[in-house]
Amino acid sequence: MDFAAHSLPVRSVSESQSEMTELILPNDTNTLGNLLGGRLMHFIDLVAAMAAYRHARTHVVTASMDHIDFIAPVHVGDLLILKSSVNRAFRTSMEVGVKVWVENTIAGMHRHVASAYLTFVAIDSQGRRVPVPQLLPETGEEKRHFEDAGRRREQRQRELDRKRAMKPAEPAVEGTVRPGKTRE
Ligand SMILES: CC(C)(COP(=O)(O)OP(=O)(O)OC[C@H]1O[C@@H](n2cnc3c(N)ncnc32)[C@H](O)[C@@H]1OP(=O)(O)O)[C@@H](O)C(=O)NCCC(=O)NCCS
Repeated sequence: MDFAAHSLPVRSVSESQSEMTELILPNDTNTLGNLLGGRLMHFIDLVAAMAAYRHARTHVVTASMDHIDFIAPVHVGDLLILKSSVNRAFRTSMEVGVKVWVENTIAGMHRHVASAYLTFVAIDSQGRRVPVPQLLPETGEEKRHFEDAGRRREQRQRELDRKRAMKPAEPAVEGTVRPGKTRE
């Protein structure tokens, strides 16, 4: 892939910042009326994808979602508020940060319930990876997120390398051909 051949715009953080609000209904909850963790992860993936699309202006796929702590429960009838922004763009990937709050509709109180970092990879309509515009952090907070995202990328890369080194060779499945091998 010839990355140097592409001239891409540089985007600010505010160009891709996204927000989503969801009213939590019984279908989203467990038997105690608390929001299901998997449903929350789905909302996080959606709001993060919005920011990634707005930054890349092409198709994007979720490559990974980092560790998430569910800090406090969300109850049926609460409003869930999710905000996302691109923390840093690399070559074909971007780190998106998501912060989630709950608003109690009766008391009007807000509480932070979860945060997550996701990596999206930009692809074209044929599924080929494509370079993304670079991000220009402007405020002190945006610059801090930018630096932190660089450190997290190094950690992720170390973890990916470790997993690849530990992975045993895949056993051949009956009736299939391994890449690079011919069937006998
Ligand atoms: C994500 C995906 C495109 C990466 O493809 P790949 O062949 O492993 O690509 P590479 O190793 O060349 O990496 C491409 C970029 O993705 C990043 N990347 C790859 N795997 C990653 C991971 N697990 N976490 C974070 N970043 C990752 C690389 O750092 C690289 O970034 P850069 O171009 O900015 O330097 C591929 O694994 C894929 O298509 N996965 C399925 C995506 C999907 O379906 N998501 C929905 C989940 S249900």
